Amino acid sequence: MTHFERIIILTGAGVSAESGLDTFRDKGGIWEKYDLTQVATPEAFARDPDMVHEFYNLRRSAVKSVNPNAAHLALARLERDYPGEVLLVTQNVDDLHEKAGSRHLCHMHGELGKVRCTSCREVMDWWDDLTTEAICPLCGKSGRLRPHIVWFGEMPFDLNKIGQFIETADLFISIGTSGTVYPAAGFVQAAMDAGAHTVELNREPSDGFSLFDETHYGPATEVVPQYVEKLLSEAHHE
Ligand code: APR
Repeated sequence: MTHFERIIILTGAGVSAESGLDTFRDKGGIWEKYDLTQVATPEAFARDPDMVHEFYNLRRSAVKSVNPNAAHLALARLERDYPGEVLLVTQNVDDLHEKAGSRHLCHMHGELGKVRCTSCREVMDWWDDLTTEAICPLCGKSGRLRPHIVWFGEMPFDLNKIGQFIETADLFISIGTSGTVYPAAGFVQAAMDAGAHTVELNREPSDGFSLFDETHYGPATEVVPQYVEKLLSEAHHE
């Protein structure tokens, strides 16, 4: 029977698709509707902050109206019940993993529900619409609040913590990501180099599918609970 000491999980937009949130690169996805150079780069924010605020205001209200699905809940159950350490690294900026109960979590691309003041650099919870008139409640400056989101060209968060965890992980599970954006798309190679067993759970093969030891394809709400059940039953039958 197999028991893993340290499991690292990477999720992407596909884990939230069945909750009703758009992915980025599927048909009808976010980057089909919007030009990312207009709404998801520091240059875009400098050029037209109102357009960038409007893009994130729409996504913030979409997230407020949806719920975690069976995949999010299964991952929270794995963290709670598995006899080993589980770290969940998400590229997603929604809060569905938290709503499902996950706690040991890294938002490497930031969070829709947080804003950062470019003046005092404080990060704070913020689920309302953000505008250029908004005043920072901490330093009182107006027009200096931005989404706490990692834009293209910016450094993702928690990379040291993630890198250290991968070095000692013995299981890496990639869920609902196309494997097209680095550094996240490179995690599977780092996990392989560390000797971890690598698993892809996705609707269809991602760009990095050939790097995985094990793959299960189908909707996340089916393949993720099934795989979590398998891990838990194998660990408890030792
Ligand atoms: N179940 C499982 N997988 C799904 C489902 C589903 N119901 N629906 C879609 N998928 C898969 C798709 O097959 C695809 O491989 O989820 C993946 C979504 O890929 P992307 O839209 O590229 O999203 P993601 O990989 O998270 O993008 C990475 O790119 O734009 C940046 O910062 C943004 O975090 C994002 C990053």
